[in-house]
Amino acid sequence: MSDIQRTLILVKPDGVRRGLAGEVLRRIEAKGYTLAAVELRTADDALLGAHYEEHQGKPFFQPLVDFMKSGPVLAVVAEGHRVIEGFRSLAGSTEPTAAAPGTIRGDLGRDWGLAVVQNLVHGSDSPESAEREIGLWFPGL
Ligand code: RTP
Ligand code: MG
Repeated sequence: MSDIQRTLILVKPDGVRRGLAGEVLRRIEAKGYTLAAVELRTADDALLGAHYEEHQGKPFFQPLVDFMKSGPVLAVVAEGHRVIEGFRSLAGSTEPTAAAPGTIRGDLGRDWGLAVVQNLVHGSDSPESAEREIGLWFPGL
């Protein structure tokens, strides 16, 4: 059965600042996924509040929003069979110190001892999240 999905990927401000946007795109393409949209932009409170709705009220919410506003992010829609799960696998687990080598976070990320974990990338975690997040970041798509 064909099950082509789309997912929202963000290269977070730490990744863009470190010049790793191209490396993340390279890994997405090397895995065989297709790029459906790519845009460099700086997010505002309204977009980030909606994007991180599930984390509102948590202690790391405001530091997370401040971090995500600290510079441009590369917003990407990638497409392919099981891409939602596939990109989460490429990204690795949330904490870069614990993320497996071979993953984006495991190879390129580290723990800086800051108020919020800076871990280079975001990837939608379910078909429902992907649809919601793509609608927020690329309303015209
Ligand atoms: P993402 O949503 O960015 O793809 O990452 P994730 O699913 O692996 O992590 P999630 O639990 O959704 O958390 C979203 C982002 O919030 C920051 N975070 N910091 N205790 C902390 O300092 C903490 N916990 C989460 C990370 O940037 C995480 O990616
Ligand atoms: Mg998440």
